[in-house]
Amino acid sequence: MSGDSVANLSNGNANTQQPDPRRTYQVVVAATKDMGIGKDGKQPWELPSDVKFFKDVTLTTSDPGKKNAIIMGRKTWESIPLEHRPFPGRLNVVLTRSGSFDIATAENVVICGSMGSALELLAASPYFLSIEKVFVIGGGQILRESLNALGCDAIHITEIGTDFDCDTFIPAIDTSVFQPWCSSFPNMENDIRYCFTTYVRVRSSAIEFCSQDNGVSSDGNSENSKFEVKKFSFLPKTVFERHEEYLYLKLVQDIITDGNLKDDRAGTGTSSKFGCQMRFNLRKTFPLLTTKAHIFLLLPN
Ligand SMILES: NC(=O)c1ccc[n+]([C@@H]2O[C@H](COP(=O)([O-])OP(=O)(O)OC[C@H]3O[C@@H](n4cnc5c(N)ncnc54)[C@H](OP(=O)(O)O)[C@@H]3O)[C@@H](O)[C@H]2O)c1
Repeated sequence: MSGDSVANLSNGNANTQQPDPRRTYQVVVAATKDMGIGKDGKQPWELPSDVKFFKDVTLTTSDPGKKNAIIMGRKTWESIPLEHRPFPGRLNVVLTRSGSFDIATAENVVICGSMGSALELLAASPYFLSIEKVFVIGGGQILRESLNALGCDAIHITEIGTDFDCDTFIPAIDTSVFQPWCSSFPNMENDIRYCFTTYVRVRSSAIEFCSQDNGVSSDGNSENSKFEVKKFSFLPKTVFERHEEYLYLKLVQDIITDGNLKDDRAGTGTSSKFGCQMRFNLRKTFPLLTTKAHIFLLLPN
């Protein structure tokens, strides 16, 4: 689908008056350093924290009256143990080109013949109103088509730091159009090293990246390259609130509302709090940073 023309509206856009012809989506995937995601039709690792992250991200909606949709390939559907499928609380969209593929439990499951038709279906009534966010969850064939495609607004990737033998791979994330939003500290579970990183689309294409690099954006507007946090409010709340700018603003807000007020000789006064911490992976979001960072807050009166 790469190169398809997709309406440039964010995921969770179902509140607009006119339905867009296609929904955009976010990808949720776990992959090794060389982008391996599966082996022999299964996931090669067992990582309960990743299962929990997947559930939190794909199940949670900001509107309790709506649910999210998850799009997957037929082989991924078949890799889910019978007792766990369909994933509850979400509309399960299964992609297959085979007309004979049938799913007995029809509730909460929809079959589509292509990624484009699935995104069109979700943009139309009744899903236009009832589905909040759309997540593409794999497997390899589906993500090779959709990971870096224009319709993808964000990628939530569980980066598996331990080596696993895989036979299914996905492409590398195109960092000329996607930028890290947040990254967790590295963790360890079942002897597996992993961390959660979210990338967001900041440019529509690599061509735009090149023209911005030369000081001109494709529409001649250099303001386009600005990274505006509020543009990404379509992200799941738990992910959105992990951005360092958001954490910083929350900390400032906390100091202003709950800090210890003291007079000073200048008569301005200070508000302070001892021992506050902002937890984010600086090295990931600012890869060029080599020394310790200190953040000083200058508060207005
Ligand atoms: N690590 C992770 O996060 C993760 C996530 C999901 C899956 N996985 C792993 O990935 C592996 C499965 O991936 P896979 O690449 O083998 O299979 P897949 O992408 O899950 O499914 C492939 C099937 O989907 C259908 N399909 C593919 N492209 C389509 C299109 N454009 N339109 C309509 N239907 C389409 C076809 O079904 P028909 O043959 O019926 O036409 C195709 O055979 C497993 O090992 C699984 O455990 C890992």
